[in-house]
Amino acid sequence: MCGIVGFIGREQAAPILLEGLSRLEYRGYDSAGLAVYDREKGLQVVKAKGRLQVLRDLTDGGAKVPGTMGLGHTRWATHGAPNDENAHPQVSQSGRIAVVHNGIIENYGELKSFLEAKGVVFTSETDTEVVAQLLEFYYAGDLLDAVFKVLHRIEGAYALGIVCADEPDKLVAVRKDSPLILGYGEGFQMLASDVTAVIQYTREVCYLDDGDVAVLTPGGVQVYDSLGQPEEKERSHVDWEISAAEKGGYEHFMFKEIMEEPKALKDTISPRIRDGKVVLDDLTITREDLEGMDRFYIIACGSSYHVGMAAKYILERLLRIPVEVTLASEFRYCRPIVSEHTLALVISQSGETIDTLAAMREAKRLGARLLSIVNVVGSTIARESDDVLYTWAGPEIAVATTKAYSTQLAVIYLLAIHFAGLLGRIGPEEYRELVEQLQLLPGKAEEILKHTEEIQYYASIYFNHDSVFFIGRNIDYAVGLEGSLKLKEISYIHSEAYAAGELKHGTISLIEDGTLVVALASWNELFDKLMSNVKEVKARGADVIGIATESHKAALAALVDSALSIPDIHPMFLPSLEVIPMQLFAYYVALMRGCDIDKPRNLAKSVTVE
Ligand code: M6R
Repeated sequence: MCGIVGFIGREQAAPILLEGLSRLEYRGYDSAGLAVYDREKGLQVVKAKGRLQVLRDLTDGGAKVPGTMGLGHTRWATHGAPNDENAHPQVSQSGRIAVVHNGIIENYGELKSFLEAKGVVFTSETDTEVVAQLLEFYYAGDLLDAVFKVLHRIEGAYALGIVCADEPDKLVAVRKDSPLILGYGEGFQMLASDVTAVIQYTREVCYLDDGDVAVLTPGGVQVYDSLGQPEEKERSHVDWEISAAEKGGYEHFMFKEIMEEPKALKDTISPRIRDGKVVLDDLTITREDLEGMDRFYIIACGSSYHVGMAAKYILERLLRIPVEVTLASEFRYCRPIVSEHTLALVISQSGETIDTLAAMREAKRLGARLLSIVNVVGSTIARESDDVLYTWAGPEIAVATTKAYSTQLAVIYLLAIHFAGLLGRIGPEEYRELVEQLQLLPGKAEEILKHTEEIQYYASIYFNHDSVFFIGRNIDYAVGLEGSLKLKEISYIHSEAYAAGELKHGTISLIEDGTLVVALASWNELFDKLMSNVKEVKARGADVIGIATESHKAALAALVDSALSIPDIHPMFLPSLEVIPMQLFAYYVALMRGCDIDKPRNLAKSVTVE
């Protein structure tokens, strides 16, 4: 989604804004722009459709734009086509106020008519321009006063950065339902939609809350609450290195992040196992609390939802508590059966996905207790949950999630073992075995990554297929959903995942000579049944890639065209291993098809609009 950067200080702002925007490119965008104030030149606005490089070329890397205060933006179009006019910053009629915005102003139509009736002429199709024009309408020599008046009129979700040529010593930041952070420096201050944009300059940040309005000057920041009362904000220190958000010699972030999976798994699991016990220090849920729960709801979107699908098999099997997995975008509209006896497990890499956030707020309103699994520290979902367990995957930059997915699963395993222990659903022997096996997971993931060339070879055979089916049973089906999403999102090949037993109920009519089927057969209990499904599709001409555990590789190889194996491990932990060959397969196929792997078309890393 869109990205925002703001800078006010003593150095030239434009190069810093461009650098910050480059760190936000991964979020997905289709145009970019800058607004920088200079005493001689006034408010200069440069914007352009396309990649950030176009803006860099137009401004000579920012050198052509003087001034020490300004805003930058990468836009992911919602209202109006991606073009120069609709790019941000949006500017008021006199050209004296410029605004960058992430989110959607829901009542912009009504406000636009109001302003047009007053003679205001609009130059873009965006909802954001309404904010700039409305600010000018209310401006009477005090920018902050105009901002509060505008906030009373606009509805929707927004993170805003605002500059006014008549008050060049300040930048204003506003947040409601769309992330925005402040970065504190010596003699400069910054604002951004994401810490990655500022950590090159400062590691002291503050996560703004909904309703906050911040005024930044070179010497400091004052934050006000929604009623205009000054407030003290807690500062956080970002402790990861900038190199974690860089490619470090790899061609693509996605590949780098796949290769980081063993470490991410280890970082997520190891500190939470002590003396053979799962220790979740951050968790306040007790055995009594758990005994009072009659159901779990899992709320998530996309790949995080697929983790939820796998979690259902794991949690129900171990805990014998019913688990409903719901797409966050559907949750609010399906009259969910939620009460104070519901534990809502909220899964999100970014911690900012708007559908997930809205659904969890609804679950809270209905009485549920919220436990979130989140990767981004300090994100809104993490802060609004009763409990949060972080996935220590480090920054994930590629749009296609890989290491975050694996670590979300790892937290599910830890939770499942911990809860089963608390509830006495497993005996000490089983507990010990699960903990031991879980500790083997990072090493087994590493083994798979030693054989990437095998998967690259299969990708070279199959990359030209234009339709792929993933089939599996039980947890293999859940992993198939993720394999299919990975392939379609980055290679643009049409693909679907099916519970293998469902094939005969319709889908098998699509199987013909040369259709590619990926058969996921790691769930040993159901291996034979899955092989029957493989025979069915082979009989109709499909090319089949199979994935099974090492112990079943020979049996698999006898039936499929291409057999891949993953190390044997306790079945509960198989998804984290089985997904890796599929992530690599999607990666290599996309590479061979010449796709923009880290920034697939139409997609954004963090989806902050409904
Ligand atoms: O940040 P979240 O986990 O809440 O994001 C949810 C989905 O948008 C995300 O998992 C998406 O499906 C992946 N980027 C796909 O690889």
